[in-house]
Amino acid sequence: MARVRIFYGSTTGNTEEVASMIADQLGDAVEYVRDISSASVEDLAGAETLILGVSTWDDGQLQQDWERFFPQLDGIDLEGKPVALFGLGNSYGFSGQYCDAMGILYRKIVQCCGNVVGFWPRDGYAFKTSGAIVDGRFCGLALDQENEGDKTAGRVTGWVGQVRGELGL
Ligand SMILES: Cc1cc2nc3c(=O)[nH]c(=O)nc-3n(C[C@H](O)[C@H](O)[C@H](O)COP(=O)(O)O)c2cc1C
Repeated sequence: MARVRIFYGSTTGNTEEVASMIADQLGDAVEYVRDISSASVEDLAGAETLILGVSTWDDGQLQQDWERFFPQLDGIDLEGKPVALFGLGNSYGFSGQYCDAMGILYRKIVQCCGNVVGFWPRDGYAFKTSGAIVDGRFCGLALDQENEGDKTAGRVTGWVGQVRGELGL
């Protein structure tokens, strides 16, 4: 049962680390985990299920490897494909743009007709505004290793359990 491909972009290693945690918890359901800097459009298009991780940089922008890959998403058809998102940011230092990149990626995936799963409640987070809030919830799992690293393991476990249920994994 190898169904999920996980792609991440990570500048200092935080998003990469969470990608590994998610993969560990999904076990046999994971086909592979890959840095988006060495991924192709075909890698994404050929997946049965996608999990995409992105950190936010430069005041609300995509992490640089995602930034480079992003234009290629314009030509991709994700019709009906389940896609779950997770994002890393700093909810105190960048309280007005917390995890914005996850929102940028969300809107692109919706444009590509992907079926986004794994929405996550905003309760218990301290931030002012976030471009990753869609209809009152995060459009994926939001994490903050700088200030709330002690909550990451619990949040990941809760979210992976939820996504498993939504995807029937
Ligand atoms: C220069 C700089 C700009 C950042 N900009 C944002 C931002 O706009 N929004 C946010 O939520 N986090 C921001 N962050 C925090 C990073 O997203 C956070 O450190 C994240 O864990 C980095 O993950 P990575 O190592 O996987 O790239 C910024 C960090 C730095 C150093």
